[in-house]
Amino acid sequence: MNGIVFYKTADLALTKKFYGEVLELPLWLDQQSCAIYKSGNQLIGFCQAEEAETQGTITFLLSSRCEVDAAFSKFRDIATSDPKPNPVYAIYHFWAADPEGRKLEFQCFEHQLQPFLNLDEGLMQRRSIRKYLSEPVPDELLKQVFELCRYSPTANNRQSYYYIVIKNKEIVKQIVSLRGPAGEPLLAAPYAIAIAARGDLSRRKIQDACIAAYHLLLAAKAFSLGTCWVTDMDRDEVKELIGIAKDDYIACLTPIGFPAERFELPKRHEVDSFVRFV
Ligand SMILES: Cc1cc2nc3c(=O)[nH]c(=O)nc-3n(C[C@H](O)[C@H](O)[C@H](O)COP(=O)(O)O)c2cc1C
Repeated sequence: MNGIVFYKTADLALTKKFYGEVLELPLWLDQQSCAIYKSGNQLIGFCQAEEAETQGTITFLLSSRCEVDAAFSKFRDIATSDPKPNPVYAIYHFWAADPEGRKLEFQCFEHQLQPFLNLDEGLMQRRSIRKYLSEPVPDELLKQVFELCRYSPTANNRQSYYYIVIKNKEIVKQIVSLRGPAGEPLLAAPYAIAIAARGDLSRRKIQDACIAAYHLLLAAKAFSLGTCWVTDMDRDEVKELIGIAKDDYIACLTPIGFPAERFELPKRHEVDSFVRFV
């Protein structure tokens, strides 16, 4: 079940200005006397009333300290505290307030969480990450990521794709030395993953492998892990190093780890420039 939390507001116009223009939340539904905003997986509604309801806390959940710090820089004017860790809950957060005095909190958890991003957010927030914390990714977590990879589509449902987790840094170094500077992000993370598809199983190994690779990038994002598509890996030397059959196709390698950087979205084309209706 999905849901909406409603608050009464004594000044809907002011509240709309704040949530829409200051926080830049998309207006999910405008019902004239009520406005419902979407913030990730939460829908927050405000309805015009005599008196405002200001109890409780509206918490905006972010993925990492970098994200909380970035939110603090952006919303400094409405902040009521500096960002700081709270070891009791293993969180990092700061407080703010809306114009009617509701308590707002911008927070990340500093421990592993089950996925909480919506599909649209995952698609919008995945970035190529090239700096990582040294902390290794637990195998259990990787297994959860690969569990989502089972849903990758393949031609005729042949499921020709497979993943090789490379934990041996020496092997990664050798691959990077073959690939050159563009491959260096592979060395920045605790592990690298090769995504490939079997040539003996599918005539669509290239498509299967590429989709499986992007599926992994998105599945990793769901668990707040960083990745970066590193290409030009379908080479015999790479196959030999990690035991991949010559006839198989390597879509790419990706580093995988906990991100140590945050990227703004690089400039993207407007929809009109790449969609045609015939
Ligand atoms: C086919 C392909 C090849 C890429 N090759 C590399 C690469 O070799 N090294 C690298 O650091 N990034 C590589 N990238 C990542 C792109 O630079 C990145 O996707 C692009 O700049 C957009 O940034 P974003 O992924 O954060 O949206 C590649 C991406 C794709 C789709």
